[in-house]
This record gives sequence, structure tokens and C-alpha cells, in this order.
Amino acid sequence: MATTTLEQSVGQIVTEYPMAVSVFLSYGIDFYCRGDTPLAEALKDTDISVDEIIDEIEKAEIAEGEKYAKKRQIDTKNLNELVDYIENTYHKYLKRWLPEISQYLKVVRTVHGNHHQELYEIYDNFIRLKEELTDHLKKEEDQIFPLIKEIEEKKSLDNKEIALVLKEIEDRHEKTRDLLMLNKMLSKSWEIPDGVCTSYAYVYKLLADLEANTAEHIHVENNLLHPKVRDKLS
Ligand SMILES: [Fe+2]
Ligand SMILES: [Fe+2]
Repeated sequence: MATTTLEQSVGQIVTEYPMAVSVFLSYGIDFYCRGDTPLAEALKDTDISVDEIIDEIEKAEIAEGEKYAKKRQIDTKNLNELVDYIENTYHKYLKRWLPEISQYLKVVRTVHGNHHQELYEIYDNFIRLKEELTDHLKKEEDQIFPLIKEIEEKKSLDNKEIALVLKEIEDRHEKTRDLLMLNKMLSKSWEIPDGVCTSYAYVYKLLADLEANTAEHIHVENNLLHPKVRDKLS
């Protein structure tokens, strides 16, 4: 990571080094809705130094980086390819896992809710998140993505309308981020309490995976797809 500088944005770092996702999430660094933030500024509220975080990302890249070689190529995709990649990767993941997490979380809340009251709030927030994401995916797939796919061919598009639509999507990403953060806080960063069953541990692992996958999903849309659309229109 010799080229990483204090001025480089956290979004750019994740695009270049996909393993930075887990490192940034562990320090509460928002690289997805606040992808433009320079690394130095993002670290202000943490107790980690630039050298330490770069070292952690490098270690993660060495350990797991090869598996993520494909993700490193997403920056070179055109609009059509990027939209297909988002649908086949992140939307597919949510359609597969949201119903399953919902079922598991309901069971865990019923069994452990008496001793772990926070599970009630976590479940309610999750249901709001599930509804928001389900509606969001539908809107992107039915309206936004077909529009983006037309941009490469069409000459006369309503640029103002597209700019508004992108802004609306980004506002909804913030809503998703807020619900994810709320549950992360309530669960003390997915810390598994002593003496609970394996289902409890499993559902927290699923929720942690959901957080990482959704953060990366929003990053790809906010920091790669939307800027590419704006470039085409300008
Ligand atoms: Fe999406
Ligand atoms: Fe989205």
C-alpha cells in the first residue's frame, strides 16, 4: 500500500484494497456513505494511527487478498457491467439471506429475549431494515438500473431528473446505514454473550456478514456507479 496517503479517500482505498472493508468496519469508519472522507479525517475519532491501520489492511490483503482479485477489477467495468455485477452479487445475497436471518432472529428473540432484552429492539430494527432494503432493491431493479443502462446509448436524457434520483437513492442508503449501526451498537458490535446457544452465535454472525456485505454494496453504488453515471451526463 505504498501509494496510500493521508489525503486518499476511504472509498478509494476500499476500491483498491477490498480487504479494507473489514478493517474499516472494525473501527467504525464509514467508507460507504462517507466514501469521500480523506483517511486522515476518518481516523480522527478513532484511537488508531495511519501506520497501524495501513499495516492491518496489508496483513488482511496478504492473508485473504487473492480471493478478492475479482472485486479489484470492478473499477474498470462500464455502466452495464457494473449494474449486472451489483445485481448478481449484492442483490442476490440480500434476497437469499434477509428471509433466513429474519426467521433465525425471531427464534433467538423468543428463546433468549427474557435475559437479553436488546433482542426485541434488534429484531424490530431488522424488520424495518428488511422492508427498506426489499423496497430499495425493487426500485433499483425496476426503475434505476434500466435507466442507467440506457444512459450509454441515449443522447438526450433528463440530466436533472437523473441527478435527483441518484440523490434520493443515496439518502436511502443513509437510512440503511443508520439501521445497521443501531443494531451494531445494541449488540455491542455483535458480541456473543456467555452461555447462549449456537443459534444465537449463528444469527450474530449472519448480522455481522449482512453489515459488511451491505456496506460494500452501498460503497459500490455511491462511490463507483453513481460517479460514473454523473461523469457520463456531464
Ligand atoms: Fe443496490
Ligand atoms: Fe442502493
